[in-house]
Amino acid sequence: MSDPPSKSFSKKEVSSHNKDGDLWIIIEQEVYDVSKFQDEHPGGKKILLGVAGNDATKKFHKYHRQSILDKYKSGLVVGTLEEPQKKKSIFGFMKRS
Ligand code: HEM
Repeated sequence: MSDPPSKSFSKKEVSSHNKDGDLWIIIEQEVYDVSKFQDEHPGGKKILLGVAGNDATKKFHKYHRQSILDKYKSGLVVGTLEEPQKKKSIFGFMKRS
């Protein structure tokens, strides 16, 4: 059993990990660091690079069974995706920069 991930990341932060050797992807609101796994991925590295830094939920489910996620999750998840801010404060315009 693994503890639930405690870190959360913004989409922007995840999107900065978008290259060979520094490769994160989002699946079902969870953030996977596949920087090392990229070379072991049976589907190849190239396809992972194609979704690097992005949400790959749909593509993941297109090619794999859910059980694959359950098996690899504990070794690859580094955190969850931050909830996007739904409403901006009406006082936002008063903020000084
Ligand atoms: C946490 C992320 C991922 C893990 C742990 C993972 C794991 C795996 C595993 C274990 C296989 C072999 C499946 C089998 O033998 O039945 C596989 C195959 C494959 N994966 Fe992934 N994968 C991940 C992400 C992705 C993503 C994001 C894509 C596409 C954008 C992808 C595309 C593929 C493809 C095309 C295959 C080959 C399918 C086939 O030969 O029929 N994978 N992956």
